[in-house]
Amino acid sequence: MPNPHDELNAIIHDALRRDLDRLQMVAEQPQPPQRRTAVREHGTWILDVLHHHHVGEDEGVWPRVLAKRPDLQPLVDEMETEHAALASASDTLRSTLFDYGEGRSDESVLKQAVEQMRAATLPHLDHEEQELMPIVLRTLDEADWKYLEKNHFRKGMAFTDQSLTAMWWLDGLDESRVWAVRGTIPAPVLWFMQRRYGPRYRSACQGAWGTAA
Ligand SMILES: [Fe+2]
Ligand SMILES: [Fe+2]
Repeated sequence: MPNPHDELNAIIHDALRRDLDRLQMVAEQPQPPQRRTAVREHGTWILDVLHHHHVGEDEGVWPRVLAKRPDLQPLVDEMETEHAALASASDTLRSTLFDYGEGRSDESVLKQAVEQMRAATLPHLDHEEQELMPIVLRTLDEADWKYLEKNHFRKGMAFTDQSLTAMWWLDGLDESRVWAVRGTIPAPVLWFMQRRYGPRYRSACQGAWGTAA
């Protein structure tokens, strides 16, 4: 059985890949004003979720791994450099989304910012999954993961955002992978999140992606 922490990281990464594809599709053709506003809202929220994921890695996971494996410093440095490049592309995309939503820029500008974001993000996700995660999994134990969940990944996140993030993970997720989500969110809580926040998440998607989702 695959490791749940590895699978969850992969689920988050795949959600990001999926939505970078959707953003690219949106930027392919002129969109009506309502769609632009919805893309700005939902796109900005996704960038917030991504930021939270990276802060959790930079401030939580990497230091915890380095405490046990100081020899990994060069690889962690690479991850941090990639996160920094990604953060800068994300800032550009964020301000582009803002202008786009306000009708101050068009799809061609959005397309450029999305391409920049994809170029900074996609290779990083592969790099982290292939090179660092296997070592992280061998290095951290369950106590470490519990600590990280509580003090980093969930810290400072309102229940609403935790719930919408869970919906974002589950969006289009193959049934065979849902166990990893259930491993981090107890079944009754997940049930409640889906009842309470599923419709809100779906309506944000419908607004931003329309039939693309
Ligand atoms: Fe990650
Ligand atoms: Fe990362």
